[in-house]
Amino acid sequence: MCLGIESTAHTVGVGIASGLEGTKILANVSSSYSPPSGGIHPREAAEHHVKAIHELIESSLDIAGVDFTDLDLISFAKGPGLGPCLRVGATAARALSLALKRPIVGVNHCIAHLEIGKMITGCRDPVMLYVSGGNTQVISYQWGRYRIMGETLDIGIGNLLDKFGRRFSIPFPAGPKIEELAKGGERMLDLPYSVKGMDVSFSGIFTSLSSMQGELKDLCFSLQETAFAMLVEVTERAMAHLEKDEVLLGGGVASNLRLREMCSVMARDRGGELHVPKRQYCVDNGAMIALLGLLLEDQSSLDLDNTKIDQNYRTDDVEVTWL
Ligand code: ATP
Ligand code: FE2
Repeated sequence: MCLGIESTAHTVGVGIASGLEGTKILANVSSSYSPPSGGIHPREAAEHHVKAIHELIESSLDIAGVDFTDLDLISFAKGPGLGPCLRVGATAARALSLALKRPIVGVNHCIAHLEIGKMITGCRDPVMLYVSGGNTQVISYQWGRYRIMGETLDIGIGNLLDKFGRRFSIPFPAGPKIEELAKGGERMLDLPYSVKGMDVSFSGIFTSLSSMQGELKDLCFSLQETAFAMLVEVTERAMAHLEKDEVLLGGGVASNLRLREMCSVMARDRGGELHVPKRQYCVDNGAMIALLGLLLEDQSSLDLDNTKIDQNYRTDDVEVTWL
């Protein structure tokens, strides 16, 4: 049984996963920091996590119906993410490991999204489109690692939505409201479509929109259509190169029904299928960190030397030993 702690950005989460008789998620609780105004400030988010984490650990144990002593393993998100936030999760995990004398393992946040998506939806060898505030990557397994087939060259797609929201007075997180407004949009405005090889770039879209006149619903509509088309194009190309037919969505932006529709049409046209986990497993969550902890159990240790955080921890740095 593994307790996993997520704290890469504005969400702190604790999950408990059991590996007995097939993997099960026994608890998944979280608390998110929303800045009163402006973007997320790493130190303030970290302070929020410090205040929330103790209660989250207690309530995860209550929900799972287990005691501290039932835990066999502690895992935490080692990166990528914001340093001050990552340190809160790592510190709590080290404290648990020391107090309970249980081994600890640091895991990659992006791979955790992918593995929980596979577990929850039952897909086996997908191309994952991971779309959150800070991350935008197309990831798939090949030759012993999860490879980044394409990614953003600047900001994440969620960050684009939230920046646009700040510019046009839509409260954080702006994604759901933009989705709502876009439904009423009719006019497709001309925005930069930046796909560079397998990578995408969103900052030009933000710059163009910032100075555009027009109805907000049309701006939202054009933003979604352009940015999502770029993502779907790169995802489709990865599927074609790798000859894979499953698409898996993950990250907070996966909640967007228009993005799902576009991915689903693309996948069906190729004779494939779209898989989307429930929202609580798409957004940042502790359950995915607990699950990956179980998969990486053989790399866990009682020694804390290996528990440093890595803000730039790359998806393809990790050797996949569990498949
Ligand atoms: P990460 O640390 O992985 O970058 P995160 O901190 O950004 O994650 P998530 O909860 O995965 O957290 O994603 C939040 C993002 O999802 C925000 O940018 C928000 O605007 C966006 N979002 C939420 N719901 C929707 C929606 N319906 N449509 C589009 N975007 C959405
Ligand atoms: Fe995430």
